[in-house]
Amino acid sequence: MEWERIRKRPEDYVSANLQEYEGYAKNFAWSQARALLDGLPGGGLNIAHEAVDRHVLAGRGDKLALRWIGRDDRIRDFSYATLRAQTNRFANILAQAGIAKGDRVYLLLGRSVELYIAALGTLKNGSVLSPMFSAFGPEPAKARMTIGNAKALVTTEAFYRRKIEPWRKELASLQHVFLTECSANRPPGTVDLNAALAQASDSFETVWTSPEDMALLHFTSGTTGKPKGAVHVHEAVVAHHITGQLALDLHADDIFWCTADPGWITGTSYGIISPLTNGVTMIVDQAEFDAERWCRILQDQKVTIWYTAPTAIRMLMKTSADFPKRFDLSKLRLMASVGEPLNPEAVVWGVDAFGKPFHDNWWQTETGGIMISNYLSMDVKPGSMGRPLPGVTAGIVERVEGGAVREITEPMAMGELALRPGWPSMMRAYLNEEERYRKCFVGGWYLTGDLAMRDSDGYFWFVGRNDDVIKSAGHLIGPFEVESALMEHPAVAEAGVIGVPEPTAGEVVKAYVALKGGFEPSEALRKELLGHARQRLGPAVAPKDIAFRQNLPKTRSGKIMRRLLKARELGLPEGDISTLESEER
Ligand code: WT7
Repeated sequence: MEWERIRKRPEDYVSANLQEYEGYAKNFAWSQARALLDGLPGGGLNIAHEAVDRHVLAGRGDKLALRWIGRDDRIRDFSYATLRAQTNRFANILAQAGIAKGDRVYLLLGRSVELYIAALGTLKNGSVLSPMFSAFGPEPAKARMTIGNAKALVTTEAFYRRKIEPWRKELASLQHVFLTECSANRPPGTVDLNAALAQASDSFETVWTSPEDMALLHFTSGTTGKPKGAVHVHEAVVAHHITGQLALDLHADDIFWCTADPGWITGTSYGIISPLTNGVTMIVDQAEFDAERWCRILQDQKVTIWYTAPTAIRMLMKTSADFPKRFDLSKLRLMASVGEPLNPEAVVWGVDAFGKPFHDNWWQTETGGIMISNYLSMDVKPGSMGRPLPGVTAGIVERVEGGAVREITEPMAMGELALRPGWPSMMRAYLNEEERYRKCFVGGWYLTGDLAMRDSDGYFWFVGRNDDVIKSAGHLIGPFEVESALMEHPAVAEAGVIGVPEPTAGEVVKAYVALKGGFEPSEALRKELLGHARQRLGPAVAPKDIAFRQNLPKTRSGKIMRRLLKARELGLPEGDISTLESEER
């Protein structure tokens, strides 16, 4: 369906950083963006220096950096100077424990203040930050910490006991565990983080890191195999900084709320780094989504820029368009969305409910920062992801004979979304997986794995994924990880996992299971398997539904054909099934 374009009038973007897209993009060079940052002596660069210390050294230490709102509405404020002191303390704790440059520090925390202190303190120490989502169960945590050779972990006592302690002995690299929310009888081999912070010195000299030193390790999922560790370097901060200005229109006097959890990359790139390098005040809410609470936060905190996700917007849409109007949201000047397809209805609903559209943008764990965006000064076409960031070249390509690709230039022709490598926040590797990384690049393009189209105005339109990974509530879930956990159950012979459409979360995880001889399908077994998966994987990854099948469709080489499972589930044409092995056994 064609939705009318939402026109922008000059008064909508008087103070926008990006006033005129074409001209700006034509003249843009990444070196200009780099010049906005301090750097360290001798050509060094450190994300935490740019995010925190730079402002204090420039006399902006009293500015409010972080306002944290607790689940119980308690507020804790951190100025840039306080944030500097606290992150210095954490860096000192790491250094004293012998955790050095390049060592991997993992986080498994809800949105507590310690998360922010530990994330930035880790970077100051030159160590590599790997945040994990707090709703991961023991298996996803173990897989990620093992791949990345975790040396230290910051988590809560409850998470530690449930998700880490049962297997800790299997990971010899893990030498230090720091606990928040801990009791007097902390488990052996752990340190009380807050007691240590209180004792640590608040002065620390940021460890010298080069722009190409590894800074962030963000895990993402593919169709097959283990999670992939996308390696990002300190130079990524150049992209975090400038995309914050161009796509999110951050100005130093903004009050910015990114609702994403730092356990996923949006919550790190734009929920920690970009707002702080831009010197804004950022809001963190510890609690989960609640329509009333969120509108109240937007109102009471006088949020000017709000970066959220389609699932949350669709949950808000369950209230009436009049609901947000009960609040004074007059300060709100830009609403942006990312992570999954933003349906045109939601963009238009934004205009009804808030008087302005949601601005969709697109990127991925691999790209480290926003790549395609609807800008404040540019007309919004509801349903479109917008246009490439200045400095980024995007194209639509198709694979051709001989392992090459051809760019498709005809408007609205579907192909794979591809980017010309060269922006600072591009991943530098999949950790220890050279081959998987190499396969992402063909003919001078980085292939994103997404299908899309470009219209004659240069706007990009998302079509779907080119693979079997699942997007549920904005979270990327690898079917293989879910299948593996199900296969650990003694009753399960085979498992095939797909995403099935669901109006709010976009997709939900559904598993198809074939049982071993001697086991019979039953409601009790179905519940047991759901519980088993949830216990191992955690609620963020576990299937919401399980169905029994006698056999699963497989290729002749024995791979489960998830596409066919999905086509059957949705009653769609089965497509090319020439490689289908007989389902009889
Ligand atoms: C995948 C990346 C967004 C960064 C954090 C998540 C899907 C992302 C959009 C959008 C439609 C989108 C793509 C992409 N996606 N943004 N605006 N419209 N789909 O990163 O977990 O690596 O997921 O999310 O499929 O490849 P991620």
